[in-house]
Amino acid sequence: MPEKLKILFLAAEADPFVKVGGLGDVAGSLPAALRALSAESAGGQTLDVRLMLPLHPVVRTDGITLRLETAFSVAHAAGEIQAKVYAAEWDGLPVYFISAEPVNSVQTVYSANASLDAEKYAFFSLAALEATRHLGWQPEIIHANDWHTALACYALKLRRKGDEFLRGMRSLLTIHNLPFMGPNISAQLAGYGFEAPATDLPWWGNPLPLPLGLWGADAIVAVSPTYAREILTPAAGCGLETFLSGRALQVFGILNGIDTRRFDPQTDPALEKNYSTQTIKARQANKAGLQRQLKLPEAPGMPVLATVSRLDPQKGMDLVFDALRYLDGLDWQAVLLGTGDPELETQARMLQKDFPNRVRAEVRFDARLANRIYAGSDILMMPSRYEPCGLSQMIAMRYGSVPVVRATGGLVDTIREGETGFLFAEPSAESLSLALRRAISVFGDKDAWQALQLKGMSRDFSWEASARQYAEVYQSLLKRRVNTL
Ligand code: GLC
Repeated sequence: MPEKLKILFLAAEADPFVKVGGLGDVAGSLPAALRALSAESAGGQTLDVRLMLPLHPVVRTDGITLRLETAFSVAHAAGEIQAKVYAAEWDGLPVYFISAEPVNSVQTVYSANASLDAEKYAFFSLAALEATRHLGWQPEIIHANDWHTALACYALKLRRKGDEFLRGMRSLLTIHNLPFMGPNISAQLAGYGFEAPATDLPWWGNPLPLPLGLWGADAIVAVSPTYAREILTPAAGCGLETFLSGRALQVFGILNGIDTRRFDPQTDPALEKNYSTQTIKARQANKAGLQRQLKLPEAPGMPVLATVSRLDPQKGMDLVFDALRYLDGLDWQAVLLGTGDPELETQARMLQKDFPNRVRAEVRFDARLANRIYAGSDILMMPSRYEPCGLSQMIAMRYGSVPVVRATGGLVDTIREGETGFLFAEPSAESLSLALRRAISVFGDKDAWQALQLKGMSRDFSWEASARQYAEVYQSLLKRRVNTL
């Protein structure tokens, strides 16, 4: 039996310890899915994946026991920085937390103060790499995610040449959201002793963690095949399209999965009534329950349109508000759940004021209500301007709510027009409203609608398929390593 392949998985957040957005869902699921792969599915070796997170003050540690594993210091021009590594096990997954002044001193996961984030994440990325030496655990692969941990890939590339311990390690960087490249970290780079190397990045990318990480990474993964192609073009490449195109052979697209145990209409305790493809009629009780809970008229025949989303220009929520106004002459109800941009929050509340009998704008975070909306709504709207992968559309399908989405990124890869949902091209309220009209007219045909629902509910969005593809990329990195050592 070949030895396990060791992978250190780095992220700023991971459910259930700390979650702000989609990255937290992925980092909370993918490491365990990778560990669960059999040797055959993982390319001949099982995977010893371990997750490493900053010990943010907001990290929830109930249900796990932290034990101090090792302590070490990270060299810095202004004096060494002391770091402690705590270890825990969660459902069989080893998890490490790094505690140190730059991490402990910021209350939130992401702060409005760019220089605090620069300090925290530059430190965490470098300390994570250094920690492996002190843990007596030498991973073959460092798997970083987004700008927060990207610097680990950069540091590895620069430092492994002269370092016996790091020499064999390879890195992979997953891009969950390319426009978020992180704050300027020139001061941190200088403090940690990096002399700016000549990169082939555009000049403005040289002080930013995500571009530097992409430069250093041995493989780059975008969270859907379509997004992996889009980031090679000016429309979605954010100025890095030429650089990324030069590395196109190292750029992969792997669709995220969803946690199919947590999001299961057959067992979800938040629902009015559990159901499956076999008992889809019971779904009706969830619609009635949702309408009752939100004090909307209990109208079984009226389509309930929903959004479960950050209120954010990326998600195109402004288009939803306008599109609903265009649909004034039709029968529908709308339930909008989410918080975010204060201006969009105000617009959501205004919509409810203008349509008191049919719109509910729930401007808050409520995971239970989210699931009740997936189970009780008929149509999930996702008019994203760009969407690297998107999770809500997959959850909605699993619960039998039919997605109406813009044809971009992961939405293209998860939804088939007329089979599992409806797509539209232009990021405009007009196009969204036309797609909604199409959906609402099919909704009128009960059999056709149920066929759409059942097809969506039968799609397999479990993590296993994604995990296998990641394992393939890991294996390809090791093969290439033999050639370059
Ligand atoms: C980001 C992207 C989203 C993706 C998630 C997880 O939040 O905006 O599309 O699903 O990361 O990868």
